[in-house]
Amino acid sequence: MTEAAEESIRVLIVDDFAETRENIRKLLQFESDIVVVGAARSGEEAIEMASDMKPDIVLMDINMEDMDGITATETILSKVPFTQVIVLSIQSEQDYMRRAMMAGARDFIVKPPSSEELIATIRRLSVFAHDKRREFERSTAPLAADGPPGAGGTDSHRPVGKVLAFYSPKGGVGCTTIATNIALAFDTEETPTVLVDGNLQFGDVSVFLNLQSKYSINDLTARMDDIDSEILEDVLLLHENGLRVLAAPPRPEMADEVSADQIRTIIQFLRRHFAYVIVDTASAMDDTTLAILDTADLLIAICTPDIPAIKDARHLFDLLHILEFPTENVCFVLNKMDRKGGISAEAVGENLKREVEAVIPLDERAVTASINKGIPLILSDRSSPQSRAIMQLMGTIKQRIADAEEQAQEEEVKERPRILGR
Ligand SMILES: Nc1ncnc2c1ncn2[C@@H]1O[C@H](COP(=O)(O)OP(=O)(O)O)[C@@H](O)[C@H]1O
Ligand SMILES: [Mg+2]
Repeated sequence: MTEAAEESIRVLIVDDFAETRENIRKLLQFESDIVVVGAARSGEEAIEMASDMKPDIVLMDINMEDMDGITATETILSKVPFTQVIVLSIQSEQDYMRRAMMAGARDFIVKPPSSEELIATIRRLSVFAHDKRREFERSTAPLAADGPPGAGGTDSHRPVGKVLAFYSPKGGVGCTTIATNIALAFDTEETPTVLVDGNLQFGDVSVFLNLQSKYSINDLTARMDDIDSEILEDVLLLHENGLRVLAAPPRPEMADEVSADQIRTIIQFLRRHFAYVIVDTASAMDDTTLAILDTADLLIAICTPDIPAIKDARHLFDLLHILEFPTENVCFVLNKMDRKGGISAEAVGENLKREVEAVIPLDERAVTASINKGIPLILSDRSSPQSRAIMQLMGTIKQRIADAEEQAQEEEVKERPRILGR
């Protein structure tokens, strides 16, 4: 997404009422250029999420229990100066408006907003956000980047990247399709992303992206002891949109040359260079896949609404339970959803006792054509139902990661007094 016009508008919703957050999300869900990257429930959370996600637009509530929206706006702007804050308030009083503007808010909308007004305001302000973001990045860019372009070098300021593993016990459900599309969506200047083909025997990520695989993971394992950013720069393939790709071995028999430990080490290395490491996996639950799951912050389990795939998904969830893989680190997605198929997402969720968190519709013609051309749908048709569903899934994944981080922080705080009290 190198063209400014195609740049998506990343929106953070802030409101202490779940219903309001949901309503706003719904108003925005069909806009293919707008992505809700998160929804904060308090001023404190808004500051944290904004610092982390650096949204283009913040939709800010005024009255919140822990902190008023005006204070939150001030703090957010001191941390993320290019963000454009739009205040949403039931109070249409002049005083609020004036104070919000003084704090740096760019616009003021009275609740409940109409979708036209909200969307038009977001689009109008996004132009400033994108311009100011570029300006900001230029002024803060390091003089010499150590590492692959777009990989941000060994950036000591960046927290280690998140590993997202896409897996299905059944082949053909769409793991590679979803992993390639979402990797392109995640890959931005702020969040450089690498896509790893973890299907070592029959990986086809480079085919999906129409990339000539000059180098592959085997070129990394051959120099395991001295992998550095320069070697990465050589070995990672570069998609024309900037996404970096670690290709699978060129021939199936070469998969044996890559051990599970090596794959684990490589992923750990990549996460220090990229904000997101997206791994497409093979269906076999072998040592390689287990090593990938071991490093994953989130496992995106893909299923289709048919009996054999649902049966396999049940086995997967049982197996994950035995492996003590945390349930909260699994995101369950249904692909190839077809109203005519007869099995609804609710029925699948009920059957497996697991919430379906994203649904990607079936479109044989569009998806097959995109794969054959080697141009993922997210690039060729951003407004297709599949691309929109992928963008929604990206929002869900980001929210899950933010929730997990918050949880971890809370636990850390709870732990502290115990350690001191020992
Ligand atoms: N949403 C979809 N609608 C229609 N066909 C799809 C969809 N997602 C994937 N496919 C098709 O399913 C087939 C398998 O997809 P793939 O991504 O290779 O699955 P996996 O990696 O799980 O084996 C491909 O031919 C692709 O065109
Ligand atoms: Mg595949």
